[in-house]
Amino acid sequence: MTIYSKTEVQLEDSFQARVDDEQKIEPKDWMPEVYRKNLIRQISQHAHSEVIGMQPEGNWITRAPTLRRKMVLLAKVQDEAGHGLYLYSSAETLGASREEMIDALHQGKAKYASIFNYPSLTWADVGTIGWLVDGAAIVNQISLQRTSYGPYARAMIRICKEESFHQRQGYESLMALAFGSPEQKAMAQDALNRWWWPSLMMFGPHDAESAHSAKSMQWKIKRKSNDELRQAFVDQTVPQADYLGLTIPDPDLKWNEQRGHYDFGEIDWEEFQQVISGNGPCNRERLVNHRSAHEEGQWVRDAVRAYEAKQKKREKAA
Ligand code: 3HC
Repeated sequence: MTIYSKTEVQLEDSFQARVDDEQKIEPKDWMPEVYRKNLIRQISQHAHSEVIGMQPEGNWITRAPTLRRKMVLLAKVQDEAGHGLYLYSSAETLGASREEMIDALHQGKAKYASIFNYPSLTWADVGTIGWLVDGAAIVNQISLQRTSYGPYARAMIRICKEESFHQRQGYESLMALAFGSPEQKAMAQDALNRWWWPSLMMFGPHDAESAHSAKSMQWKIKRKSNDELRQAFVDQTVPQADYLGLTIPDPDLKWNEQRGHYDFGEIDWEEFQQVISGNGPCNRERLVNHRSAHEEGQWVRDAVRAYEAKQKKREKAA
């Protein structure tokens, strides 16, 4: 049992009072070590998700059906890289180094969103990722705009603005398919069938099984629970699928007047555990691609370091 000194207890009490008072915690403020470590874990994994998430969509940039779709997809994938950079920078304010975070990813010690371990098989997958994956990310990230850690909250505000474009472009692309030829509508339905349940997994395990939620809610890292956010996502997405004339692949999905929400079926948690433990359809490929891109970019990092060293020498000599 950790014996805290009196000052440690006082420090933790005043920290909690600040969080309860909705004050933002900034990098230079005292914070419990567990708070700092939990934030580095979540923010770095969030950043990894943004960057790895570029792969399934990037796979379709050269095969977009029109120049306009290509330009939109290019802009979106480029945005995701920027989101990753904001988030790595936010984690660095907590003392984590970029190298350590990337190394943890490559060693399989750090996770990224399970959803990105599924293959993007047809053009309809690109629209479905925008509609469902970015849609789910927005539900989660709007809530994170009020997270207690200042740099994370501020990164979310910027990211949410761009995510809404991501979700809209995906839905608009699906509208073209759903209201297109029967083959195009069938392609959209096939994509929905494959991406629906993995999208619900994005919100994490049930609250009762969540290892981090209790502390994350107490410290207002999380403002809403996994199940609350998942329910909000289902409630907002079902009418959108109805409008497209697509069927959500869940026989238990039905409106519950009493609850004022949709009831829906149980997620396959065995599949979820398999995917987050590295055994999903694309886990290996995603990390192989990330490692080789990272190695290819070594010369850029070396050049930046050489330039910085030269600058420092010049400043010293001046
Ligand atoms: N994929 C991978 N791992 C997941 C997961 C998922 N969908 N859901 C939960 N996990 C992991 C957690 O990381 C944790 O493992 P760890 O201890 O090794 O980190 C474990 O499962 C237990 O889950 P908890 O619910 O206890 O974990 P959290 O409290 O961290 O909640 C979370 C999980 C809701 C994903 C939370 O971390 C979070 O809100 N993260 C920020 C948002 C984020 O990362 N989104 C990812 C998608 S980003 C995206 O989609 C980009 C868009 O532009 C396309």
